[in-house]
Amino acid sequence: MATAVSPLELDTAADDLRSAMVREVQRGLLPQPRSLPAWMFYDALGTRLFERITHLAEYYPTRTERGIFSGYADTIVSRARGESSKPLRIVELGAGTASKTGILLDAAAHMQGRVEYIPVDVSETALEAACASIEQSLADVEVKPVVANYVSAPIQLAPHDGPTLALYIGSSIGNFSPEEQRTILRNLKVELQSGDALLLGVDMVKDRKVMEAAYRDAEGVTEAFNLNILRRLNKELAANFDLACFRHVAFWNKDESRIEMHLEAIEPQHIRIAAARLSVRLAKGERIHTENSYKFTENSLLSLLEDSGYFTEETWTDERGWFSVTLARVV
Ligand code: AVI
Repeated sequence: MATAVSPLELDTAADDLRSAMVREVQRGLLPQPRSLPAWMFYDALGTRLFERITHLAEYYPTRTERGIFSGYADTIVSRARGESSKPLRIVELGAGTASKTGILLDAAAHMQGRVEYIPVDVSETALEAACASIEQSLADVEVKPVVANYVSAPIQLAPHDGPTLALYIGSSIGNFSPEEQRTILRNLKVELQSGDALLLGVDMVKDRKVMEAAYRDAEGVTEAFNLNILRRLNKELAANFDLACFRHVAFWNKDESRIEMHLEAIEPQHIRIAAARLSVRLAKGERIHTENSYKFTENSLLSLLEDSGYFTEETWTDERGWFSVTLARVV
């Protein structure tokens, strides 16, 4: 992977990650209701499981957003470039494996030749996959990955002579609370210049059954993804979770406009997490809340962008209105 990060920095990043995990388990598992942050899903196995989820029949968001990109990539990129004669650079927050981004990069490369692409993600494994697939398939794209937690700290983009398009797609923003969503977009805005653009992809509120099925697939891949958070704690923080004693729970919370995922103890548990010097007793039926996936309406999307300092320019959606991709401008 063409990385801008030195091995020493990666060691420090691994230590920081472990300390962050220790802090999160102490913060989330001691008090009730218990919770763990969703970013902990994404170790190497979690990243692969999520990739499998994106191909499931029930999990409509990825293929729906891909369909929107396939239909409108040229329009999206040319709107993002605006009147500028200088090359557009593309930055992607939470890039993951960047499987859909290739469609937009390809459109940009056709329009302007070389394209600088800066994927930003907390998961090094995901970034490696992104770099490999983009570099292999798109010769005109120069990939400059950044391993960073864009939620807790600014990403510090290098200066660029031309417009920037920041992508935050895949409804990744939906895994954060409404306050965090605003913080992320405001922090991003600090890194952008007036006239730069944001492309935000979000999942929309729809029939409850459709949304719930996407998080309760018949094959049990989402269940394995959810349980992987405990497997990771066993491996990385010397915890003793017995995965067979937990059940995957996912449901639509209408009042909060989100799908919630939990792990429910099917028997009383005595959990020890050695690396965090933590001992927790879970009663039968007690849940650990592992993820929220917020779904949007036209209004909630508009307020998010407005509150965060962006002007909504254009929205593209699929024929059922299940997913939406919005281009917004930094004011
Ligand atoms: C990454 N994120 C947008 C996914 C979602 O739909 O909230 C994560 C996921 N969780 C369970 N299935 C998929």
